[in-house]
Amino acid sequence: MSEWAIECLKPDLPSVETYTSLLAEMDSNQWYTNFGPFVQKFEAKMAQFLSSTDGAPLNVVSCNNATSALELMLQNSGLPKGAKVMVPSVTFPATILAVIRSEMEPVIADVCEEEWTLTPAGVEAMLDYCDIDAVMPVASFGYALDSRAWEAFIDRTGIPVFFDSAAALGQQEVSPKIPTVFSMHATKPFGIGEGGLIVTASDAMASSSKLNSNFGFVQGLIKDIGFNAKLAEYFAIVGLTQFERWDAVTLKREQRWALYKECIDTLDTVDYCQAHKNKLPATLMVNTQGRSAAVIKTCIENKIQTRQWYLPPLHKHEIFQSYIKVGLQGLDKCPVSEYLESSLVGIPFHNFLTNEQIHHICAIIK
Ligand SMILES: Cc1ncc(COP(=O)(O)O)c(C=O)c1O
Repeated sequence: MSEWAIECLKPDLPSVETYTSLLAEMDSNQWYTNFGPFVQKFEAKMAQFLSSTDGAPLNVVSCNNATSALELMLQNSGLPKGAKVMVPSVTFPATILAVIRSEMEPVIADVCEEEWTLTPAGVEAMLDYCDIDAVMPVASFGYALDSRAWEAFIDRTGIPVFFDSAAALGQQEVSPKIPTVFSMHATKPFGIGEGGLIVTASDAMASSSKLNSNFGFVQGLIKDIGFNAKLAEYFAIVGLTQFERWDAVTLKREQRWALYKECIDTLDTVDYCQAHKNKLPATLMVNTQGRSAAVIKTCIENKIQTRQWYLPPLHKHEIFQSYIKVGLQGLDKCPVSEYLESSLVGIPFHNFLTNEQIHHICAIIK
């Protein structure tokens, strides 16, 4: 039993009885992983499901999680070792870990005050203070990134862009110019348990990522220094079943988001991210204007679970102190990320919340 009256997140996955026949088929195939038939079917279905900014076909490479997918994407991008990759300070640490583990150099950047993530204009302004070889914006809290604005950024600057859209599967349009990673962790909107995707228009990136997700084997010989990042058949089966309920799962989420917006609009000093008000988030962060500690305390007293996803910001972690940090006012200054640390609180947001619970949460916060 949970210690919370209202929990922050609850996975919404298909129930086992809806896919037992597929599990039985997997058993009779005796093929449980290594690019089996369910993984192949799942990747093909995902390629149709995703929308591309110009309708160009997209390759989908499934992985065991998004962290592996980020590493594979960077390592098979053509970027050299030591390349400077800009990441937002407010993100899940997997973003920066993937850069470091790919033997590249992260540049930790302050985020935009309105959008709580990197924007093309913000990154271009920070180029006055540092050089970068690539940038990896994050679809923070599941708010889809603006693919067309980032395509224009590539056209203007020539700097390659990679999206960490871990929490935005189903919401994020994919640009053929921007390789994109998604997560299918149980707590993500398109949850399958554990899983990740690399989506790219580049056939070369897709085929080398796939090869390196299987140790780097080609016909029994290791051709590259890969690792084991394959999606197992079990997860592909959950994914195939998740497609069938996706519209209903999304509708429930949209209804809860609409009610939350109505309730939060009545609060004077707490707000959601206005810049993203027409997008569907994965987790719900509210801005308490510097009073996160007090709001968290009140929620705990009322057995309402809260989380501060993506916080503290990366530049505050001791282990990342040696890396370059940059903001709009120059090096070593990330004031927006620090303001967000004292202001953002993640409140319960999932498909099993009742209308009464949403009203209750907002009343307590008020
Ligand atoms: C922005 C971001 N990147 C990467 C990840 C890692 O995803 P996974 O748990 O599938 O490895 C997450 C997970 O929450 C995330 O939010």
